[in-house]
Amino acid sequence: MVELAFSILASDFAHLADEVHAAERGGGSIVHVDVMDGHFVPNITFGPPVVAALRPVTKLPLDCHLMIENPDAYIPAFAAAGANLISVHQETCRHLHRTLQLIIEHGALPGVVINPATPVETLVEVLPMVHFVLVMSVNPGFGGQKFIAPSLRKIEHLAELREKMGLGFRIEVDGGVAHDTVASVVESGADMLVAGSAVFERGKTEENARELLKLARAAAVVSG
Ligand code: DX5
Ligand code: ZN
Repeated sequence: MVELAFSILASDFAHLADEVHAAERGGGSIVHVDVMDGHFVPNITFGPPVVAALRPVTKLPLDCHLMIENPDAYIPAFAAAGANLISVHQETCRHLHRTLQLIIEHGALPGVVINPATPVETLVEVLPMVHFVLVMSVNPGFGGQKFIAPSLRKIEHLAELREKMGLGFRIEVDGGVAHDTVASVVESGADMLVAGSAVFERGKTEENARELLKLARAAAVVSG
C-alpha cells in the first residue's frame, strides 16, 4: 500500500504538533524526520529531543532519516526518543551491516539510504536485512529542490532486485516528490513517499496531503 511520509522539515516549527495533526488528517501515515548534522550535509536540523517531543503528540510511526556522520553514536538516542524507523546513508557507514544491526538491536526498523550518485548495486549484500531502502531523488540537505529524474530508473532497478531475490523490503523515495512527479514515482515501484514542501506549502497542509495521496493511489491502481 502506498503511504505518505510527510517531512516536517517544511512545516511551521512554531506549531509542530498542529502541523503533524493536519498532515495526519489529510491521510499522511508516517512522520518523516530529517536529521542533519552540518557535516555530511550542509544544513543542521533536529536531534533526539525533537523526536522525544513528537512522540506523545502522535501515534504515527516516526521515521528518522539520519543525514549524519558516525550514525552509530546517535542511533541509541534516537531509538530511546521513540523513533520507529531509522535509516542511515550508505555513504556514511564504514560498516553498514554493523550499523543496520545496531538499529535492529535498539528495536527500530532499519533502512538504508542512497544518494543520487550512489548505485543500487552497493546495497545488494544488505538488502535481506533492511525493512526499507530510501532512494534520494535530490541531493540531501534541503527541502524544496527539483526532482532528479534518473532516480526513477533506480527505483525500478530496486523493485526488480527485490523480485529476483525474493525479498519484501519497502521502497521509500525522498526529494521533489510533488503533484507533478508523484505518479511516476509510484509507477516506478515506490510505496513510501516522502514529501515536505508539497505537503506543508501555503498553509493548506491537510488538503495538500489529501490531494497528493489521491494522485499517488490513482497511479498505484493504474500500475497494479
Ligand atoms: C532532503 C530531505 C527531504 C526533504 C524533502 O535532504 O531528506 O526529506 O525534506 O523535501 P521536499 O519534499 O520539499 O523535496
Ligand atoms: Zn528525508
